[in-house]
Amino acid sequence: MDKIIYYGHATIGLELDGHLCIIDPFFNGNPKAPIGWREVKPEFLLITHGHGDHLGDTLDIYKQCKPMVIANFEIIEYLISKGVKNVHAQHIGGAYNHAFAKVKLTNALHGSMLPDGSNGGNPAGFLITARSGKKIYAAGDTGLFGDMGLIGEEGIDVALLPIGDNYTMGPEDALRAVKMLKPKIVIPIHYNTWPVIAQDPFKWADEVEKKTETKVVVLAPGATLDL
Ligand code: NI
Ligand code: MN
Repeated sequence: MDKIIYYGHATIGLELDGHLCIIDPFFNGNPKAPIGWREVKPEFLLITHGHGDHLGDTLDIYKQCKPMVIANFEIIEYLISKGVKNVHAQHIGGAYNHAFAKVKLTNALHGSMLPDGSNGGNPAGFLITARSGKKIYAAGDTGLFGDMGLIGEEGIDVALLPIGDNYTMGPEDALRAVKMLKPKIVIPIHYNTWPVIAQDPFKWADEVEKKTETKVVVLAPGATLDL
C-alpha cells in the first residue's frame, strides 16, 4: 500500500507503487529524525531547495545507494559538480513521469542558496501524482502565495504544509493556504525542530478543522499515513 512517512522537520518518505522516494533528506543534524541516513535506501530523492535542512544528507545517501536525484536545474548542476551522476533536472511548472509517480515542480516563495554559496535557482514545491491517481502536494519552504489556488484546482488528496513561522508560513497563513488548496488531508511540517519554529500542531489542527472541510493528520516523527 502507498504511504507517507514523516522523518521530522520537512523530511518526508513516500512509498509509492513499491518505490521509496524521500523529499528533503535531512537526517544528520535533524534533532527530530527518528533514524539516521544510513538506515534509508531510497530509489529517488526530491530536493525542494538548496538550504542545509533540505539538501541535508543528499550526497551521503547518494554514495550509499545511488538514488536518482530530482530537483531544479541549478541544484542538479551543483550535485553533478559534487560527483552525483544519477540525476533528473526539471523546473517550475514542468512535470515528468518517473518510475514511482509523475512529479511537477511548483512555485515556492523562499531562498535556495546552496551550502557552498552556489546559486540554487528558484525554490520549489512538488505536486506528485501517484499511479493510483492520488495527488500529494509538498509545498516546500514557502510563504503564502495566491497561486496556491491554481494548484488546488488540480484536486489535492494530501498537502504537506509548513506551519513553523519565522522561515516559512506560520499557522495563520497555513490556514489560508488550506482554504486555497482545499486538500482532503493536510499534514503540518517544518515546526518544533528548533525553538524559533515552535508551534502547537494540535491547536492548528482544531482551527483548520473548524474553519475548513480539510482533515488534519499530525504525524509524530517516525509515524506513517496510509494513502
Ligand atoms: Ni529553507
Ligand atoms: Mn527549511
